[in-house]
Amino acid sequence: MSDRMKTLVETLNYHNRRYYVLDDPEISDADYDRLMRELLALERKYPELILPESPTQRVGGGRADLFEPVTHALPMLSLDNSLNEEEIAEFDERTRRTLGDGHDIEYVCEPKLDGLAVELVYENGFLTIASTRGDGAVGENVTQNIRTIKSIPLKLAAVDGQTPQRLDVRAEVILGILEFTELNRQREDGGEATFANPRNAAAGSLRQLDPTITASRPLDIYCYGVGHYAGITFTSQWHVLQIFKQLGLKTNPLIQKVVGIEQVKKYHQQMMERRTTLPYDIDGIVVKVNDLQRQRLLGIKAKSPRWAIAYKFPPRQEITRITDIIAQVGRTGVLTPVAIMSPVNVGGVEVSRATLHNQDEIDRKDIRIGDWVVIERAGDVIPKVVKVIDSRRTGQEAKYSLPRTCPACGSQTIRIEGEAAQRCINLSCPAQTKERIYHFASKGAMDIDGLGSKLVDQLVEKGYIKDVADIYFLKKATLVNLQRMADKSAENLLNAIHESKSRSLDRVLFALGIRFVGEHVAKVLVRAFKSIDRLATASREELMAIHEIGPQVAQSVVDFFAAEHNLKVIERLRQGGVEMRPPQESAKILAGKTLVFTGALRTLTRQQARTLTEELGGRAASSVSKNTDFVVLGEDAGAKAAKARELGVPLLSEEEFRKMAGLN
Ligand code: IVH
Repeated sequence: MSDRMKTLVETLNYHNRRYYVLDDPEISDADYDRLMRELLALERKYPELILPESPTQRVGGGRADLFEPVTHALPMLSLDNSLNEEEIAEFDERTRRTLGDGHDIEYVCEPKLDGLAVELVYENGFLTIASTRGDGAVGENVTQNIRTIKSIPLKLAAVDGQTPQRLDVRAEVILGILEFTELNRQREDGGEATFANPRNAAAGSLRQLDPTITASRPLDIYCYGVGHYAGITFTSQWHVLQIFKQLGLKTNPLIQKVVGIEQVKKYHQQMMERRTTLPYDIDGIVVKVNDLQRQRLLGIKAKSPRWAIAYKFPPRQEITRITDIIAQVGRTGVLTPVAIMSPVNVGGVEVSRATLHNQDEIDRKDIRIGDWVVIERAGDVIPKVVKVIDSRRTGQEAKYSLPRTCPACGSQTIRIEGEAAQRCINLSCPAQTKERIYHFASKGAMDIDGLGSKLVDQLVEKGYIKDVADIYFLKKATLVNLQRMADKSAENLLNAIHESKSRSLDRVLFALGIRFVGEHVAKVLVRAFKSIDRLATASREELMAIHEIGPQVAQSVVDFFAAEHNLKVIERLRQGGVEMRPPQESAKILAGKTLVFTGALRTLTRQQARTLTEELGGRAASSVSKNTDFVVLGEDAGAKAAKARELGVPLLSEEEFRKMAGLN
């Protein structure tokens, strides 16, 4: 088996590299998943044979040394900056003078990525420690988090059958612009503070205490240099980069070898033009003397080398005037203030709008209509206001507050305590229709099979549904008008809609998309109030008296049911046949039963399993006897399972136990 496992690990890592490092996949996602599942199954069966470089080992394997100080074997230097043609020409002259070379110098030109510098230590090919730059001498251990980045190999590929004993790789961890925008959107929806730019987002993602959070952020890496190394030799920066590629380390394809300062300037110009279309942020280029011997001759200063320099781009800032501020409602009901400005060209793009994020931001920066402001396009395509130019104030400027009513539907907006966002919570707000319906029909909610986002889009765009209640009044004659909707599929959909009417009240509640009412909170609320009418009239205090319900949830529920139009939608759901019955009291299903848990459970901790058993009236015992009613088998169950078989005690899988407990 170990042979097969090794082959699978190698194959998966190869394809991983094709996908994440080379951006050139060879197999389909489905094929990849199939191999992954095979490996997972084998690893479950033979945990002692799991290879450290297995793609399954990126998250976990918990080491306690997260954020502990790591001393870099060689200091991680920074770079001097040059800001214009004169300064870069001076650098070239100085370099030639020191080297005593009348000829043009060979340089490697690289995009200067705006991310977070890290060092990856590979020992005998295995990634052993990853750290942040820190103060250059000592950084923080971020190994666990770095391992979750898929474009970083856990094991280096051999070059000519050889693996270096030691290789300290210098690299930049980045978050792409689209990924950054999406992350911020999610955070805004979730009422969390947004990141100012992709670099902060990348840094924040690496500094997570929980590596699964890092794993959920699509971080990427580009490797550009070496620190300490042994068992390998390099002749030039270009050589380093070529070897990196062979080792499976990701390098930037835009890196070029050039000769002479004129070509450096040309490269700078080209990158400045490319800048707006790149999927990540760059703030300049880095120019490095190619030959390593020459680098040694040039040497280093206190904190930076004499053989390299950053050649920055001009900042993408401009000055313009805010002529108006408007409010936009997003798909999830959040009101975003947007500044309308006199059009101005920023770094090659004409802009006339900037996001002001939220009311707090407006207040903090004291932004008023009529103000002259500095705006900046940082990473994000949407520019933002950096600051107000106070000296240009005339006294005619007008303060702005987000409206108390939604610009899309006119209903009252609310601001939940502790949240920056002001929201429209109207179930029928046209700006949110699609999003609300996607959620309503989704799996954990009403689970309406066949009512996917494409179909919802069509139904909303054609005006057939305006809110979630309309779903229950759809007619076959309407549905068959839609694209790709044959008789049969219309019937299937109507059946699925019909079936969803009997979903329990907690799921209906969750499906309504009340802020802070997730699946669990919905269950808690239903257990306490039993009916939607009772819940709808509950006061903030009554709600807060319930265990697990805090002030935010309570307020959100009260606000939701205080809105007349929401009550109307609920009433129409009822008319449409949605039953809204509390779930069958799964209670006491294990009354008088004794259960024994053995082996590792996949989805529950042992404590959770015990508590659950007790809640359902049963008792969790620790040893198997003839009085045991069920033995629940986790993974690698041993002696207790054997004992149960011997005594003829019924065995349950974890799945079966979950079903019994009403968890599935
Ligand atoms: S070389 C001695 N190459 O810029 C060389 N740095 O100001 C030091 N950076 O901390 C770094 N892209 O975070 C180098 N292609 C690149 C780079 C790069 C981005 C960052 C890096 C470093 C900072 C130096």
